[in-house]
Amino acid sequence: MTRDKVKIGIVGIGSIGTDHVEHVIALPNTELAAICDRRFALLEADAYPDIPRYTAYERMLEAADLDAVIIATPHYDHPDMCLQALERGLHVLVEKPIAVHVQEARRLLDGARAAKRDNPDLVFAAMFMQRTWGQWRKVKSIIESGALGSLIRCTWIITDWFRTQHYFDSRSWRGAWGSEGGGVLMNQCPHNLDLYQWLVGMPARVNGQVSFGKHHRIEVEDEVTAYFEYDNGMVGHFIASTGESPGTNRLEIVGDCGKLVFEHDELVLYRNEWPSSRHIREAGKGGKLPVTREQVDFEARQTNQHEWVIENFADAILSGAELIAPAEHGLNSAILNNAIILSAHKQATVSLPLDSQEYADLLQAYIARPPAHS
Ligand SMILES: NC(=O)c1ccc[n+]([C@@H]2O[C@H](COP(=O)([O-])OP(=O)(O)OC[C@H]3O[C@@H](n4cnc5c(N)ncnc54)[C@H](O)[C@@H]3O)[C@@H](O)[C@H]2O)c1
Repeated sequence: MTRDKVKIGIVGIGSIGTDHVEHVIALPNTELAAICDRRFALLEADAYPDIPRYTAYERMLEAADLDAVIIATPHYDHPDMCLQALERGLHVLVEKPIAVHVQEARRLLDGARAAKRDNPDLVFAAMFMQRTWGQWRKVKSIIESGALGSLIRCTWIITDWFRTQHYFDSRSWRGAWGSEGGGVLMNQCPHNLDLYQWLVGMPARVNGQVSFGKHHRIEVEDEVTAYFEYDNGMVGHFIASTGESPGTNRLEIVGDCGKLVFEHDELVLYRNEWPSSRHIREAGKGGKLPVTREQVDFEARQTNQHEWVIENFADAILSGAELIAPAEHGLNSAILNNAIILSAHKQATVSLPLDSQEYADLLQAYIARPPAHS
């Protein structure tokens, strides 16, 4: 593309879509070309008077002069809305999750691949803006540097997604299987599940324990404990909640050569003087091996994290910049999400690859008859 601005239409002008409108207006490489919402619930009637506005998405795609769309509607609409735009040759940035279940995610990604065959420069990105956070990028670079050695355990306690009942009551689609498609794993934790797999990769087996509507009057899960097993012996834990205050955000990644801990905005690297596996084998009487502690600096979290992802999306369209989060990366967080719920339902460990039909059937059953509250 030879122009210096990408003309963007945004669908879903709700709580996050309203922010995206401001970012698209503010950024140097984007232009707000249209907005679309079934209800325009949060906008002043006279907001953005010069911007074409639509109440039907298909109409916006047909009538507006667009290069790209940002999709910020509730979850179930994401796959079809993405495909409608991609099939018209429009670039897409979709809010998380890319789809509510793995079968839908695969249908979407297959469709996107087909659209790219006709139009190889199409850009398809997902809003995983936490990938821009300095601490996670630093954790990733430390793991990739080999400083931890082979990984033994990754434990993430991410219970600081506290939500009130008002949060669920304020949108009719939240808190129900048929409209939100899940709870803390589906709405809040796609970011953490995405980061988890981005940092340490996908497990081979998943065991989940889940509570439905334990803290809130909702159908879906609001408390989760999952255990992950890897074929190489590594294990993982993922503990999430929207009902804890104060919540915790503590990530521990332990390897043969040390440990990384992130908590309270502090990243600490512990280094074993020599690998723990060697020490276990060779140490004589006595004890622990010597360890050093080092506080690791990282770039402060950007307040404009969403803007950063949108700017990157536009750069990818204009000049081929590498995406922060290609949409296909959204598949793994969907797999982990679905596997945890399926495992909890079956009260059994689930092996990956996930039986996506089994999960799709379970979701339908939950929509028809929500599971009992815990
Ligand atoms: N990345 C983030 O930081 C972040 C934060 C909040 C929400 N989200 C995600 O953004 C999406 C929207 O969440 P929200 O909290 O802003 O929801 P919301 O309910 O506040 O806004 C959604 C808007 O979409 C509109 N809408 C619904 N269906 C539509 C349709 N078919 N056509 C046109 N408009 C339609 C609604 O009228 C509403 O105004 C979800 O996927 C959510 O998970 C992401």
